[in-house]
Amino acid sequence: MSRYSRVMGTGGYLPEEVRTNEQISRMVDTSDNWIYERTGIKSRRIAGPEETASSMAEIAARQALEASACDPEEIDLIIVATGTPDRIYPSTGCLLQQRLGIKRCVAFDVQAACSGSIFALSIADQYIKSGAANKILVVGSEICSRVVDWTDRGTCILFGDGAGAILLGASDERGILSTHIHSDGEYESLLYCPNPQAAVANKQEAGYIYMRGHEVFKIAVNTLGRIVEETLAANNMDKSEVDWLIPHQANIRIIEATAKKLKMSMDQVVVTLENQGNTSSASVLLAFNEAVRDGRIQREQVILLEAFGAGFTWGSALIKY
Ligand code: COA
Repeated sequence: MSRYSRVMGTGGYLPEEVRTNEQISRMVDTSDNWIYERTGIKSRRIAGPEETASSMAEIAARQALEASACDPEEIDLIIVATGTPDRIYPSTGCLLQQRLGIKRCVAFDVQAACSGSIFALSIADQYIKSGAANKILVVGSEICSRVVDWTDRGTCILFGDGAGAILLGASDERGILSTHIHSDGEYESLLYCPNPQAAVANKQEAGYIYMRGHEVFKIAVNTLGRIVEETLAANNMDKSEVDWLIPHQANIRIIEATAKKLKMSMDQVVVTLENQGNTSSASVLLAFNEAVRDGRIQREQVILLEAFGAGFTWGSALIKY
């Protein structure tokens, strides 16, 4: 009998503080109009001083557990995708395990920048399909506001904080249909965030996100177009069979280009970035959770998740919900 990974439940968390484009335009030389037109973003959430990637992950994870009617002790594996961990070690996965009071599971982090949650889903799917795990908690949690240079108008307008979670369970019914992940370290210099300790030691750069936005934009559009083709071809599926597109929420113009490639109307695309910005590895899981909870996504529908991030890294997951 074949084993598949099914989505059992989802969760999400956004911090309370809202930072609008208006507020940012008082910090750097920009305007609400410029930001909205170029990115589709109007506001983003900012984590409070006491919050961490693991504290936000816990809230999203508990929601996913509740939605799945699953006890934390049933989890075999926790995978947290984050580029903004509480500590370099222990992993945010271990800190989440501690917060959830789970004694016996395995926990680790995945670092693939904005593609992190797709990479985590891909790893989780292999563990379930092979029989190595039955229930896996996948979380993306990010406090981007702490690694953003709030004097750099090219980056500080884009990012936000939040956490999303999915609980996957083994099933004999098809769930995750396929995942596809890729990396190309050649592009390090276009988008990176130095390790803060290394930055201090080298007396070189601050530990902030550095990005050549225009170049990243062009490569992201082309790459996401290719990953969509690759995913459909691997499943011998036509564009018309996809019910929902859940793209990484980086820029509305990148999202629109991918939707156009799929010949999908924007009504079939889950867009959260207007009030969340780019929450990096949390973004697709937050969008998935939102569309499940508001009833847009229904059981048996086919959903295409895709993301692109620093590395470069990119990937997709095709899911029958
Ligand atoms: N407000 C006003 N002007 C701004 C600005 C801001 N916040 N940020 C940049 N500008 C200016 C630039 O200085 C430049 O001015 P110049 O022509 O006088 O030199 C001009 O706007 C155009 O800059 P450019 O970087 O070419 O703009 P853009 O249309 O590419 O938009 C981004 C900039 C960052 C919005 C866009 O490149 C982007 O979204 N890139 C992808 C980012 C991304 O997805 N990153 C994450 C991947 S996971």
